[in-house]
Amino acid sequence: MNKQLKVAVIGGDGTGPEVVAEGVKVLSEVAKLENIDLQLTPFDIGGERYLKTGVLISDEEIAELRNFPSILLGAVGHPDVKPGVLEQGLLLRLRFEFDQYINLRPVKLFPGVETPLANKKPEDLDFVVVRENTEDMYVGTGGWMKKGTPDEVATQVAIYTRKGCERCIRWAFEYARKRNNPKGKMVTLVAKTNVLSYGHDLWWRTFQEVGQEYPDIKLDYNHVDACCMWMVKNPEYYDVIVTTNMFGDIITDLAGILQGGMGVAAGGNINPEPGGTSMFEPMGGSAPKYTGMGVINPIATISATAMLLEQAGFETAGARVMKAIQAVTGTKMKSMAAGKMGYSTSQVGDLVCENL
Ligand code: IPM
Ligand code: MN
Repeated sequence: MNKQLKVAVIGGDGTGPEVVAEGVKVLSEVAKLENIDLQLTPFDIGGERYLKTGVLISDEEIAELRNFPSILLGAVGHPDVKPGVLEQGLLLRLRFEFDQYINLRPVKLFPGVETPLANKKPEDLDFVVVRENTEDMYVGTGGWMKKGTPDEVATQVAIYTRKGCERCIRWAFEYARKRNNPKGKMVTLVAKTNVLSYGHDLWWRTFQEVGQEYPDIKLDYNHVDACCMWMVKNPEYYDVIVTTNMFGDIITDLAGILQGGMGVAAGGNINPEPGGTSMFEPMGGSAPKYTGMGVINPIATISATAMLLEQAGFETAGARVMKAIQAVTGTKMKSMAAGKMGYSTSQVGDLVCENL
């Protein structure tokens, strides 16, 4: 009997639906080849619907999505919605509701893809960032006092819990073991212990403790500012980086541009617990100016589907998609930039299917 894979599909805003269509195309094709019983359920969620109905996401939708092991998300972000509303009300709500405590962002330079780094090749840029995804300044704790007056006080509190950092750090070590880097397994904690003496001391102590359980893996530490330097100068140094939510957000944009930009960078918001709902997305936004033109690069979304397959236990299918992506970037596409690929969005999807 074929194994079942249920995927909730949220195209979202702007170019989101266009790239998701290509992700779905590739997913459907690989499902056929690998005998996976793929069941896709579309959800109309995003800025457009919010403007029409005033609903960001309903409790019923949250309850329904909870039945899915995997969500494929295009993008949320609409030029007519105030910045922050969709980000917090949709994207962060989903991450928090489903306790997707891992944000996994692979940083890999695919063949044929241009990096802004001089003299760096695909073999030099191949690491992952494991970003904690439920705590830190993202929890929204804080407030104003005397708002709008010259005496205004604003607080924005970074919250770190032992449970939160421990489960993320442990997952990073497990992932390093699984990755089994032939150059040697290493987990680098990226934080700012020299300044954030409480919260990042918790991270540091937890990292040392959990690290003792993994004698086969080297423990490494970088301050976040130094990490930004090394990532540009010596990206080949890294294997697995584990870091806090806020710093992870920042360094993965840097990493994303090193691997060829938002057209290729993908991420997974993972709840690794049994029965957990994980969500996979391209890292770029909704790119409204390219909407409907068929010029946006779907590679990031297709690579998000490869991650989805891997997380859902279809590792062979995931690897197959990754290989096909690399064949297409390496031999076909002229550029990763929107409008410069030498192919339309849909043609790139077709090419990946042909190479599966
Ligand atoms: C990301 C994004 C989000 C984040 C925003 C849109 C809330 O930048 O996925 O990295 O900060 O996590
Ligand atoms: Mn970000």
